[in-house]
Amino acid sequence: KKYDISIIKGDGIGPEIVDEAIKVLDAVSYSCGFSLEYKEYLMGGIAIDETGTPLPQETIDGVLNSDACLFGAIGGEKWDTLPRDLRPETGLLKFREAMEVYANLRPAIIYDELVNASTLKPEVIEGVDIMIVRELIGGIYFGKPRENDGFKAFNTMVYTKPEIERIGKTAFELAMKRDKRVCSVDKANVLEVSQLWRDTMEEIAKDYPEVELSHMYVDNAAMQLVRNPKQFDVIVTGNIFGDILSDTASMVVGSIGLLPSASTGDKTAIYEPIHGSAPDIAGQGIANPIATIESAGMMLRYSLGEMEAADKIDAAIKKALKDGYRTKDLAAYDAKEVVTTSEMGDIIAN
Ligand code: NAI
Ligand code: MG
Repeated sequence: KKYDISIIKGDGIGPEIVDEAIKVLDAVSYSCGFSLEYKEYLMGGIAIDETGTPLPQETIDGVLNSDACLFGAIGGEKWDTLPRDLRPETGLLKFREAMEVYANLRPAIIYDELVNASTLKPEVIEGVDIMIVRELIGGIYFGKPRENDGFKAFNTMVYTKPEIERIGKTAFELAMKRDKRVCSVDKANVLEVSQLWRDTMEEIAKDYPEVELSHMYVDNAAMQLVRNPKQFDVIVTGNIFGDILSDTASMVVGSIGLLPSASTGDKTAIYEPIHGSAPDIAGQGIANPIATIESAGMMLRYSLGEMEAADKIDAAIKKALKDGYRTKDLAAYDAKEVVTTSEMGDIIAN
């Protein structure tokens, strides 16, 4: 069997971490008897430099024609002063919109091997298994009008009922396969859009009598994630709240370099770490590739149906951690050996 995989490495640590994921994909596809054909496309700062636009049409077409997309990260200081429309981040938002990937699934699972690597107490984090379902192509990141005239600036937070319904359904369906608990996070005490969000979640819940729905304000959720993360099963929330809460969840698990994600909709799915291009550590060989390797594992599981291969990736990551190998971000507490980005890739691939 052969699959077409589109690859977008992007900027900063993007190429470093994606190369490690490809290394692992090559090893696991070989051992499981299928093959992956990669085609590389440009997006972000590198696309600006080479083509003048952060999101070439060729990238959209290429990804649409592939079975799945593996994506690193984009952005960097070099492009920060460009007008908004020409920035790498605008390319990413337009890309997600073009792919209609409305549901961003962000699992935050604590590896037993890392309970001592977190800044939180082992008894607080042991057994944490959260699925954050972040709406990805609506909310304040996309709402119009938006403007900044140098004196007054504004954005619009907008969700329509159908947008809330489809992400809500995704969350409840996932909960049915998990612990059957959905916590919807909003700011309904002050935001109109959150009130519609909350009311709609209540309506969806009627179709899932087995699932327990609760609501939480986003400020409390940020606190509860650190105080007692085990209380959560599925968290469903809008674009900006999901962005922020998943960075918080990453520190429960140990490092932002560990959290993978799947951005899914009705077209090609995109698999990407939750972190950015980390310009502060780019080129040093110290980025943690596990989030991207695990994203590749999600790709095998969700888009290609190669479950055995996905399980092997999970097992290989656990073994590497169990054997005490740590990239620098995880090295503070219990590392037996601090390894580079590419050494970690080699160890997992082997
Ligand atoms: P960031 O997620 O890139 O980095 C935040 C901190 O986490 C940094 O100290 C970084 O060194 C560290 N970090 C991130 N990934 C790591 C990894 N794999 N291993 C070890 N440490 C890691 O967020 P930041 O610094 O706010 O943004 C940097 C650039 O990335 C900006 O241009 C931003 O717009 C862009 N960005 C892109 C995203 C994407 O492509 N999906 C998502 C978030 C930010
Ligand atoms: Mg983010």
